[in-house]
Amino acid sequence: MLRIGMLTSGGDCQALNAAMRGVFKTVTRNSKEPVEFYGFDEGYKGLIYSHFRILTEEDFSNILTIGGTILGTSRVPFKTIREPDEKGVNKVEAMKDTYYKLQLNCLVVLGGNGSHKTANLLSEEGLNVISLPKTIDNDLWGTDMTFGFQSAVDIATRAIDEIHTTASSHGRVFIVEIMGHKVGWLPLNAGIAGGADIILLPEIPYDINKVIEVIEERSKSGHRFTILAVAEGAISKEDAALTKKQYKKKLAKSEYPSVSYELAAQILERTGREVRVTVPGHTQRGGAPCPYDRVFASRLGAEAGQLILNKEYGFMVAYRNREIVKAPLKEVAGNLKTVDPNASIIQEAKLLGISFGDE
Ligand code: F6P
Repeated sequence: MLRIGMLTSGGDCQALNAAMRGVFKTVTRNSKEPVEFYGFDEGYKGLIYSHFRILTEEDFSNILTIGGTILGTSRVPFKTIREPDEKGVNKVEAMKDTYYKLQLNCLVVLGGNGSHKTANLLSEEGLNVISLPKTIDNDLWGTDMTFGFQSAVDIATRAIDEIHTTASSHGRVFIVEIMGHKVGWLPLNAGIAGGADIILLPEIPYDINKVIEVIEERSKSGHRFTILAVAEGAISKEDAALTKKQYKKKLAKSEYPSVSYELAAQILERTGREVRVTVPGHTQRGGAPCPYDRVFASRLGAEAGQLILNKEYGFMVAYRNREIVKAPLKEVAGNLKTVDPNASIIQEAKLLGISFGDE
């Protein structure tokens, strides 16, 4: 009997169900021995507290196109994983106990950055782990692409598209705040696809004077509006010069709910123009996966299933140079794939006239 545990961890995204379906179909259709799938509720919580259910063909029927996750998810921060919970439960030992109690052959983790640190820890503790790269942020080390990203780019782009018409009618400055606290792949791609005039990313600290200059120059050359695609984690040059502690303190005291509102106040004060902020927020993680993500997540699921059948563990199924490969968990865990300010996509965007507020 082949016993496989599966969980989805961290912020959800589109195509989690498609990926799990891919794993299930591949293993059940191709295994020479009987297979049992155990689905853990709400990520690592289910593994810690032994909350699970046996998954059958019915669970995976009709879910290819459905967003969210049939297992539910939660964030169990890695930095506290070695600390006992409020009832004194040792979380790592509890996860291992559940795994051994169910006599699992393998644990499949669908997760982003934090979840991969825990996946690697469990692998180092001796569990057989296979993971799949999920996140709308596309910031996982070791893979060119994560599933969820393309669907989120579609949604964020549509938000900018829709702002375009109203921005041009009113001649306003519009800020569209796009998800990405530490890494800017999503605002970068949606910003280019939506024709934003200014894109502000966590990796390229902005100078407010440059941002104002671009808005004024656009106005002088006859453009009635300016659209900014701003990452949640966009940061000014001044703030980037602060220590982490000083910056956190500044944010805690700030009167603004996010950087976009601070920018809006600065633009209004310096230019006298009407500014509006739009935050698509969690809509970017919601709804049906786009066709790209359905195909991509299904392929990753099939390849993960193949690794399980081959008894090859300790890997994340990754995508590099248009091929699906396996990335060792220890290389993925704790590494972020950020936007390189010198990357060709940034240079090309600049050639197109997009400002990053830096020069
Ligand atoms: O990691 C995915 C993500 O959607 C980020 O883009 C965003 O910054 C964060 O999660 C939001 O987290 P939460 O769902 O906990 O508010």
